[in-house]
Parts: sequence; structure tokens; C-alpha cells
Amino acid sequence: MSQSPVILHLRAETKPLEARAALTPSTAKKLLDAGFKIYVEESSQSIFNADEYKQVGCEIVPEGSWKTAPKDRIIIGLKELPENETFPLVHEHIQFAHCYKDQAGWQDVLRRFPEGNGVLYDLEFLENDQGRRVAAFGFYAGFAGAAIGVLDWSFKQLNPDSANLPGVTPYPNEDALIKDVKVELEKALVKTNGVYPKCLVIGALGRCGSGAIDLFQKVGIPDDQIAKWDMKETAKGGPFQEIVDSDIFVNCIYLSKPIAPFVNQELLNQESRKLRSIVDVSADTTNPHNPIPVYTIATVFNDPTVPVETSKGPKLSVCSIDHLPSLLPREASEFFANDLLPSLLQLPDRHTAPVWTRAKSLFDKHVARLNKL
Ligand SMILES: NC(=O)c1ccc[n+]([C@@H]2O[C@H](COP(=O)([O-])OP(=O)(O)OC[C@H]3O[C@@H](n4cnc5c(N)ncnc54)[C@H](O)[C@@H]3O)[C@@H](O)[C@H]2O)c1
Repeated sequence: MSQSPVILHLRAETKPLEARAALTPSTAKKLLDAGFKIYVEESSQSIFNADEYKQVGCEIVPEGSWKTAPKDRIIIGLKELPENETFPLVHEHIQFAHCYKDQAGWQDVLRRFPEGNGVLYDLEFLENDQGRRVAAFGFYAGFAGAAIGVLDWSFKQLNPDSANLPGVTPYPNEDALIKDVKVELEKALVKTNGVYPKCLVIGALGRCGSGAIDLFQKVGIPDDQIAKWDMKETAKGGPFQEIVDSDIFVNCIYLSKPIAPFVNQELLNQESRKLRSIVDVSADTTNPHNPIPVYTIATVFNDPTVPVETSKGPKLSVCSIDHLPSLLPREASEFFANDLLPSLLQLPDRHTAPVWTRAKSLFDKHVARLNKL
């Protein structure tokens, strides 16, 4: 153990509409109990208010104050720093930086760290000994996606084909979302004589898939109406008739290699198609191997679905929002921060703890790439 306590500084998110936080009041409390010191910036965007952090013992500081904070603080945040700022970064930073996969402008994002002798521990690449990410937002992506699927299917039972599902806005908590979805589902069930939608989740054993199943169950869809597929069920290779025989299809797979499409236009053009709502949580929209190659755009919360062109059968739409967890910023943050907590508790030993040394080696590797440019 190093001698001095770890000092964390939670910076206010600056990405527009980002209401999630990398540290929540409850996880901050556990870190404080373990001897950490924590500064939390006031934030106009966060779903958590400064008082919640103050009550557990964090010290509240002004928004953006990390920039001039002493060098011994570790700056923690979720999203990228504003692109229009270029000053060298002198601290250790924990965040998603999106600069290790040759993203546009990655050099400019990364260069700031070595320029100031700073360090980046990228949250996307914090992995356990089995190579699995220690914290990810998948569960609430699937949960929110399935909610939009039920809302869309319900909307279609009650409205003409000319209308699309109206926009949705972030919910203060999970209960409020479930309540709203249940109300719409109940109205739709009157139209279907009480017959629940048949739901199919592919990637059911993963984080997003588990979240989708949890939502379906929490809004009261009977378990025998929820088909849960993973590798075993898709091993025979697509396309799958079972998808169009479902009412709501939620795709939650992690696409790691080219696979045959799950659906194609021929399947969708069947007169007998039941399928009304596709939620592509995986949202590999621009990937040439997208297994749902029936749409081309990423949808957004204020217009969550896009109609799919079909020659026969009822109206079909796709929801392909790529920031679904933001529908439930409180629970999504809580879930993420809880998963991150065991690794944060190892920060005093970050120069020897594998989860942190691996992240540091990865940082060094990519900085070395910069030097070769
Ligand atoms: N839309 C969003 O807002 C959002 C948010 C978070 C994650 N995601 C994306 O969702 C995807 C899933 O993430 P995750 O964290 O749940 O991953 P995960 O690794 O926890 O789960 C993926 C699951 O898919 C299964 N799978 C992979 N290929 C399959 C196939 N061909 N057939 C059937 N099952 C298959 C795996 O066995 C696994 O159970 C990722 O692409 C991720 O980027 C999207």
C-alpha cells in the first residue's frame, strides 16, 4: 500500500445532455470509508445533485476546477473532454477517451496526456484477469432498449401507420419508466384481447441481453412469451424465421466476427409477419457485417424509431439509439459505478494492481504509436 490516501476529483461532464456520472454518492461513500479523499464538481447536467455527495462526506468544488487542481488528484469522469481544449493534461485521468481505435482525431486527444506528463486509464479497457471489462453500461442499454420496444409495439396497436412513436426523455428512476411502459402496454392489451407481445432477445446471456429480459419481466410480460437466444440458438446460421414470428425483437449480441444476417428483406416482406418492432441495441449500424441490415441510421431519443421499408405485412420500425443507458441516468450510473468500485478500491496499489498496470501499459503502447507518426 502506498502511504498517502488516494484523492479523487469527479469532474462535471461537459458532453451535451450527459446526465450520468462515473462516481455516484453511494460508491463515493464506500471509497471515503476506505480512506479516499473525494472532491466532486458542481454540475448542471448530472442526475445527482451536489448535496447528495456532500451528505456522504465529499467536498464540493466548482465545475471545471479539475483543470487547476493539485497534480496529486486523480481526475475521474465518464466522457471525452471538450475537443476545443488543447492544453496539456498533468493529472492521472480515468475516463472513456475513445482514442485507442484510430478514431478520427485520436492523436489530438491522446497527445495531451504525454504533453503534460499525465496518464489515461481508459474505462473501456479496464479488464479483469479473464479479459472481461470490469464495468460497462450494457445492462441498462438493454433495459432501456426493451422499454422502447414495448412502447413502440404498444403505440402501433393504438395508432395509424402514419404515426411514429413520439420522443422519449430521460427518466428520474427505473420505477417511473416501468410505470409508463406498463400503462401503454395495458392500453395495447385491450386491443389484442389480452395477448402479450412475443419477445425475442438475441445475445440474452450478455449484459445488454440480461437488461432487456429484466425489463420485459418487470413490465409483466409472461416468461413463456420471452425467447432468450444466445450462441447456441444462432449456431445454425441466419436468417431466422423465428424473428419475424415474434412481435418485438431485441438484438444484443457483441459482434466480434462476420456472421450471416439474422433477418433479410425476403423474411420481412412476408404477409404473415408478426414482427412490428426491432430494437438494435448492438447498433452496429455502419458495420458491413451488421446482422440487421434493414436500416441505415442511428435513431435518437426525440425520434426513437425509423420505419423499415417492406412490401407486405404490417408496419415495422427499428430503434437504433446508440446511447440507450442515458434514458435511465441514475440507475445506469449506479450499476456502472458499483462494477467499477472494486477496481477503484485498488487505486492505492495502482502501480502493481493488474487492472491498473494493464491499463497503463495500453496507454504507454498507444503513446508510443504517437511518437512514431
Ligand atoms: N445502444 C447502446 O446504447 C449500447 C450501450 C451499451 C452497449 N452496446 C452494445 O451492445 C453490444 C453488447 O454489449 P454487452 O455488454 O451486452 O456484451 P456482452 O459481451 O456482455 O454480451 C454479448 C452477448 O452476445 C452473445 N453473442 C455474440 N455473438 C452472438 C451470435 N452470433 N449469436 C447469438 N449470441 C451472440 C454473446 O455470447 C454474449 O452473451 C455491444 O456491441 C455494445 O457495444 C450498445
